[in-house]
Amino acid sequence: MPPVVLAIDQGTTSSRAVVYDPTTFAPLGVAQQEIEQHYPRDGWVEHEPEDIWYSVARTCREALAAAGRAPKDVAAVGITNQRETVVVWDRTTGRPVHRAIVWQDRRTTDFCRARAADGPWLTAKTGLVLDPYFSGTKLRWLLEQQPNLRAAAERGELAAGTIDTFLMWRLTGNHVTDATNASRTLLFDIHRMAWDDELLTYFGVPRALLPTVKPSAGDFGVTKGLDFLPDGVPVRGVAGDQQAALFGQACFGPGEAKCTYGTGAFLLLHTGDTPVASRHRLLTTAAASTDGKPKYALEGAVFVAGAAVQWLRDGLHLFRTAAESEALAEKSNPAEPVLFVPGLVGLGAPHWVPEARGVMFGLTRATTAADLARAALEGVAFQVADLIDAADHDLGAAGAAPLKVDGGMARNDRFLRTQADFLGRPVVRAAEAESTALGAAMLAAVGAGLTDEAALRARSAAGTRFDPTLPAGERAARRAAWQKAVRAVVSFYA
Ligand code: G3P
Repeated sequence: MPPVVLAIDQGTTSSRAVVYDPTTFAPLGVAQQEIEQHYPRDGWVEHEPEDIWYSVARTCREALAAAGRAPKDVAAVGITNQRETVVVWDRTTGRPVHRAIVWQDRRTTDFCRARAADGPWLTAKTGLVLDPYFSGTKLRWLLEQQPNLRAAAERGELAAGTIDTFLMWRLTGNHVTDATNASRTLLFDIHRMAWDDELLTYFGVPRALLPTVKPSAGDFGVTKGLDFLPDGVPVRGVAGDQQAALFGQACFGPGEAKCTYGTGAFLLLHTGDTPVASRHRLLTTAAASTDGKPKYALEGAVFVAGAAVQWLRDGLHLFRTAAESEALAEKSNPAEPVLFVPGLVGLGAPHWVPEARGVMFGLTRATTAADLARAALEGVAFQVADLIDAADHDLGAAGAAPLKVDGGMARNDRFLRTQADFLGRPVVRAAEAESTALGAAMLAAVGAGLTDEAALRARSAAGTRFDPTLPAGERAARRAAWQKAVRAVVSFYA
């Protein structure tokens, strides 16, 4: 049988495995498993690392079976993952010492608030802002809470990492990560592409805890001692999920942008070899590199996107499946302009208010479930439009290219028409819905020498285009009303 590439996509709500043909990048088999979310306190979000590992092993097995391929057919593995989530484990037993602290977790809000004055130098080095979102504050919390862990970490008995690193340890026995994941920790100097002693001291993280950092396409080691893959299968591509989606959308160079609507919505704009410092509180982050040279992107993160639809479904029981949200929103009365600022876990870029929570404006006795569904979809689209404006201002020019989109909410045509309307620019839905897993597979194929960026660009298929239809005056009025609502939320909580 011809060789295949296996992509592991470990996300916030589920793990997926996808088997690809490395010449056409057609998906041959897919498997998915949800993982349990733990909310031990208000604002805390945790995952059980063993659940993650179990779901990854199981979905790899199932995806290969669905593709009708044997484990020995796998020529290379690619990994992509929810970013910023941290795990600490014992180097001898491989057992985690604590549940994974998830990127959405806000437990370090007080620390970040108290140290706000350090924001500028931290941003200059890391490209990030001092926010509970990033791994360094979470690692610091863990070592502060449990002094025995700090002592063990200093003795070199523990290993830490983002989810890619934990999976790689289990797959290969190596303690490695890639630059895109490292660039989300607040411990990594994005200009030197290296862990930074000043940052490690600041967050109280012993260097002995941290993995070796490699470019996204390369040699991460080979599988060893697994029951679902033979020994010796190389892991050749690793990237955080948003950088993988950027690569999967064939955004390889300056000016190319994508937005992925998953649990959150993440806009990434490739800036080539240049780390552009944002004046509008966007992040500067590492993009996947296939030539070993540093690559960068500007990023805007909206923490709640699909999670808002999930809340309407599971919290308010407004509909049974996420797909029904589109039909429900269609029934909304245009004369009932409800505004929903979906800051359910705080506000990300460009506001960065971790204490913020969701707020609705404009409720009347005539407001219906349909109006709330529409307001939730519009709340996400407004935020992404704000991020694009911020990126345009940072680059000093309004980008004209259509915005490439993917992820769960991008299946919703109504939502994409709204997004195009609020942007005043076309959006194009990727032909292949799974840009994240596809990106990991493409990186692994490049890393294994099976293809290159030029060949990948040539095969990238055109997607479905949604053009804006809202008159410019109406767009401006609607966006102004939204911005007034966000300002009110920010000043209430900040
Ligand atoms: O930064 C968090 C991001 O990587 C999570 O992505 O797709 O799991 O919501 P997702």
